[in-house]
Amino acid sequence: MRIEGRIAAITGAARGLGRSHALLFAKEGADLLLMDRCQEDGPYPLAGRRELEETAAECRRLGARVVTAVADVREQAAVDAAIAAGLNEFGRIDILLNNAGLLAPGGVRAHELSEEDWTLVVDVNLNGTWRCCRAVLPAMVAQRSGSIVNTASVGGLVAYEMYSSYVASKHAVIGLTKALALEYGRLGIRVNAVCPSTVAAGDRAETSSTAAVAAGMGASLEDYERSSTSYHPIGRLVLAEEVSAACLWLAGPESAGTTGSALTVDGGFTAR
Ligand SMILES: NC(=O)c1ccc[n+]([C@@H]2O[C@H](COP(=O)([O-])OP(=O)(O)OC[C@H]3O[C@@H](n4cnc5c(N)ncnc54)[C@H](O)[C@@H]3O)[C@@H](O)[C@H]2O)c1
Repeated sequence: MRIEGRIAAITGAARGLGRSHALLFAKEGADLLLMDRCQEDGPYPLAGRRELEETAAECRRLGARVVTAVADVREQAAVDAAIAAGLNEFGRIDILLNNAGLLAPGGVRAHELSEEDWTLVVDVNLNGTWRCCRAVLPAMVAQRSGSIVNTASVGGLVAYEMYSSYVASKHAVIGLTKALALEYGRLGIRVNAVCPSTVAAGDRAETSSTAAVAAGMGASLEDYERSSTSYHPIGRLVLAEEVSAACLWLAGPESAGTTGSALTVDGGFTAR
């Protein structure tokens, strides 16, 4: 077990990549604080309380102690309360995996986005990541150890057309990651980012965010995945478990020499 006895907080844990990360972290011996907004309304259908509790139940079956918390990363008070609940139960938090994120509203040129749509994406992807770091860092500083993994995207390294708010927010997540790595490295805290490309919408992860992107571009999920595959030198999309494996490595002791990095899990997408 590679993170046995560690306490990990994961945002957006109800489904998709967050669920995949939670299951792998549980299998590798971590106890978990699983957070999600738990409201299905959004620019596309998001996850509810039922999905968060399903993730928690699966993790418990794998032997993890689990606390769940309803917290929208746009609300500092809710994030603080969730982290406090985790600290109360476990006494420490060793790992923060910032996974909650939105891929839309998008599908239009930058000048066609409303201020509300722009702000929503930046508030969840960038500000939400900062808020969760802000909530957990006092405990990590006090314990002089911690590992934070922020979810960026290949959209944090290169641009996609028609998703300017997403691209800008994910570039900023990488900037935030680097800044925090500098500020907290000597306090024993590492901060890294993971940059997935399009994750196959497989049955295990059940992510529907790519379906939302496909819909925004007027394509079916199948057509979108086929066209996206052609940009991946490995000849297929990446898998949720491959992204989770990268997060596990960044979160755990094997990456002790790594901070401020942006690790791609992109099948060669950004090698062009
Ligand atoms: N799926 C991909 O192809 C892909 C590629 C690159 C990066 N990413 C990033 O990975 C992360 C997860 O993506 P996914 O595809 O699993 O998405 P998803 O939509 O399947 O799951 C996201 C989860 O986050 C929760 N969430 C949404 N807004 C929230 C908020 N304000 N506060 C708390 N929780 C909230 C949702 O309820 C849901 O459970 C995101 O940051 C996304 O940008 C995904």
